[in-house]
Amino acid sequence: MILPDLVSASAPHPVRPPSPTPPIDQDQLAGTPAGLARLAPLTAALATAAAAGLRGRTGPLPARTPADLAEQVRADLAAAGGVLPDTGRGAAAVVDLIRRYAAGTVDLADPTAAAHLQPPALGVPAAVEAIVAALNASVDTWDSGPYAVELERHVVRALADRLGLPGTADGVFTSGGTASNLHALLIARDAVAGRLAAGGRPVVFCSAVAHFSVSRACSVLGLGADAVRTVPVDERYRLRPEPLADALAGLAGDEVPVAIVATAGTTDFGSIDPLPACADLARRHGCRLHVDAAYGGGAVFSARLRGLLTGIAAADSVTLDLHKVGWQPAPASVLLVADGADFAPHRVDYLNPADDGAAGYDGLLDRSALATTRRADAVKVAATFLALGADGLGALLDRCHHLARYAQRRIEAEPRLELAAGATLTTVVFRHRGADPDALNGRLRRRLLRSGVALVGRTTIAGRGVHLKLTLLNPAARTEDVDELVDAVLAAGDEDREAA
Ligand SMILES: Cc1ncc(COP(=O)(O)O)c(C=O)c1O
Repeated sequence: MILPDLVSASAPHPVRPPSPTPPIDQDQLAGTPAGLARLAPLTAALATAAAAGLRGRTGPLPARTPADLAEQVRADLAAAGGVLPDTGRGAAAVVDLIRRYAAGTVDLADPTAAAHLQPPALGVPAAVEAIVAALNASVDTWDSGPYAVELERHVVRALADRLGLPGTADGVFTSGGTASNLHALLIARDAVAGRLAAGGRPVVFCSAVAHFSVSRACSVLGLGADAVRTVPVDERYRLRPEPLADALAGLAGDEVPVAIVATAGTTDFGSIDPLPACADLARRHGCRLHVDAAYGGGAVFSARLRGLLTGIAAADSVTLDLHKVGWQPAPASVLLVADGADFAPHRVDYLNPADDGAAGYDGLLDRSALATTRRADAVKVAATFLALGADGLGALLDRCHHLARYAQRRIEAEPRLELAAGATLTTVVFRHRGADPDALNGRLRRRLLRSGVALVGRTTIAGRGVHLKLTLLNPAARTEDVDELVDAVLAAGDEDREAA
């Protein structure tokens, strides 16, 4: 008999002395087989409660003013004995909270939610998030989450390969595009640390419509707000290479070009800077090219749109947010670098001592300059990749792109509306015509916010004023839903006129 032999050969478990204090309720732990089994009914109860909350809704936002909503949350919590009662109220309070939460938060799956680069989450990564949270691994050290560490390496490699980055490429998941851009500029700054220490004045170039996180990063990194030189854009909101070339050629002797930040998918317009020209200029002037593809990087999954990213393979670093075009629950941002040596080795005695590393026990601590404990975000991404494949994600983007093109045509055909920027990716920028259009369009958006029937975005175009924006990231939406959004804007315009 093999089994008894094996059993008798195994070392006996040491008998533990009785615990001097009662153990905590093991039922509360999620990451045990029994805990995971209990997660299913609890999650089912919460999902049912959330669905009930959603069912009572009339639009993407609750039809309440901010003050009314704040009062409702206060009253709800007061009825529950406060947000931190002395004695816990158990699962029933949680079910109640989640029902109210779903009734009162933003409903991104509503097809008329079209304000921000905040997509409705896919089911696969949302479900995986619950299990990942239950197991609560971290990727900073190997022993904090060994499988997660390896998965992150594979997801990073797959993304680098898709973008055409070299075999030396590496990457790291971060807490968002803002953090990825900050980390990229940290690497760029450190690459010229010697020249800056010798008195050089740093300069970072980006287009006039680059994301604000670029100039924020320069401030955080001590480069100074005046380090940022914004380059004018063309009529389609793409950085113009000629003024960039002139600015680089005209740098003073003590000015150090730290980086050119090109955007692949600007927040408002989805415009994509001329990446090959930017790469060429970066090479000629000895500075780094960082591509902020937080929004547009997902085009790499689409056979139809992939060509927009031509030139990205020459980048020194790339920001790519899968919590935008990737339909992941946030966060799922990746910073990719063409040369893994950009991640400075960082040893910490209690986490990743050198002898452990030499023996293969290395996590990803030195990939991450901005975090120690770091979520296993790669797991939900790997799950999504496995479930949908690159083509599946590409099809979702193609669908949203189709909706944006439809919205563009509808707006162009509507005399009361004026198109400012058509669909490159999934956004369309326009405004309602009328006297004092800045005030009018601001009022229209607030009118829609208050009624809760449609959620449109807003932006200001330099020299052209306040505009409205549709950010179409719901692949389940139909063209009829786009019509509903446009009709809601027109109706808000009518109401505004009547109220005047
Ligand atoms: C082009 C671009 N870069 C960076 C960011 C910042 O991303 P996050 O909100 O994940 O920090 C955004 C956000 O919209 C963006 O549009």
